[in-house]
Amino acid sequence: MTSSAGSGSTGSRDDKVTEAILLVGGKGTRLRPLTVNTPKPMVPAAGVPFLTHQLARARAAGVEHIVLATSYLAEVFEPHFGDGSSLGLSLEYVTEKEPLGTGGAIRNVAARLRSGPEDPVLVFNGDILTGLDIEALIATHRDSGADVSLHLTRVPDPRAFGLVPTDGNGRVTAFLEKPQTPEEIVTNQINAGAYVFRRSVIDTIPAGRPVSVERETFPELLASGAHLQGMVDSTYWLDLGTPQAFVRGSADLVLGRAPSPAVPGRRGDRLVLDSASVAPDAKLSGGTVVGAGASVASGARIDGSVILAGAVIEESAVISASLVGEGARVGARVHLDGAVIGDGAVVGADNELLHGARVWCGAHLPPSSVRFSSDQ
Ligand code: GDD
Ligand code: MG
Repeated sequence: MTSSAGSGSTGSRDDKVTEAILLVGGKGTRLRPLTVNTPKPMVPAAGVPFLTHQLARARAAGVEHIVLATSYLAEVFEPHFGDGSSLGLSLEYVTEKEPLGTGGAIRNVAARLRSGPEDPVLVFNGDILTGLDIEALIATHRDSGADVSLHLTRVPDPRAFGLVPTDGNGRVTAFLEKPQTPEEIVTNQINAGAYVFRRSVIDTIPAGRPVSVERETFPELLASGAHLQGMVDSTYWLDLGTPQAFVRGSADLVLGRAPSPAVPGRRGDRLVLDSASVAPDAKLSGGTVVGAGASVASGARIDGSVILAGAVIEESAVISASLVGEGARVGARVHLDGAVIGDGAVVGADNELLHGARVWCGAHLPPSSVRFSSDQ
């Protein structure tokens, strides 16, 4: 295999990656109704659109130019982030007419890349919260001379991910996306959704049609003898693809368990954004975020939850591990645990909504005739 590492080439391109692609075009189906009005990367986590954390971390690792590959609700990204200068970045946006899949999306932005054929380009899934040492992944790529290097992490149940077994040198031996049979579960190492591609490899992905990088590009590269290198680490890692994971990720950012330079304010038990109002005797804990203009009434207790902008929490509501959408109203003494309340929805007083319950955007749930004690 070719090696570009340490060969005395001029310039410093081997030591640094200045360019990245962010895949942010997925529909976020599992996060509904959070993603009805807002694409997954733009849902606020720890007070800012989730994507802000990824952009800030990439910037901190030396990335200067990022191309966002957008599709679903593409129009909301650019008005928020603009040219990226407020984050010290140069941002570009490319929108697919039809969703092109992960590989198709990478190929579709190739014309915007400034890197030369041998240069490394970072690629990130847009829904991953991680403490990945981006520079270590770049070093792995440089030192191994790989065509593509992948961040891998270990999870107890790998079935919802891409399985990536490696040999004793960390070289990838197979790529099994979302295994269907027990025989396919050959490892607990999974694709963590961050790659370094040699730029010329991106140009070999077929253009103009949907391509899955996981199901098509990686297996084909392996079959053709290309060098895919894995870097396993055990740093913080979470795919924010489900409401439970999203809420946990936001809380971990506030608590300081997940690293990001973009959390507004100090790390701690809670984050209350400017212009939110919280009654003095309300209790906020476990990394709870109260968004701009939201209000929390007397006696409410909120733990490990996300209250988005303009939401209203009435007195003595008890909320844990839940997400309350923009402008939604949670009535007095309501008990939410692991629930998602869509934007603008109203949950009438005394309702109890537990694990996995979802109230659609704008829906109205009448008050319950049964009163639950909030002091169990
Ligand atoms: N532009 C664009 N176009 N982006 C897309 C498209 C598309 O057609 N489809 C998906 N994406 C983006 C999503 O927005 C997300 O940021 C990323 O690609 C991955 O898509 P997900 O839908 O979140 O995939 P997943 O979580 O089921 O699986 C992926 O991530 C796992 C790690 O979290 C795979 O890469 C797995 O192999 C991996 O283990
Ligand atoms: Mg995902």
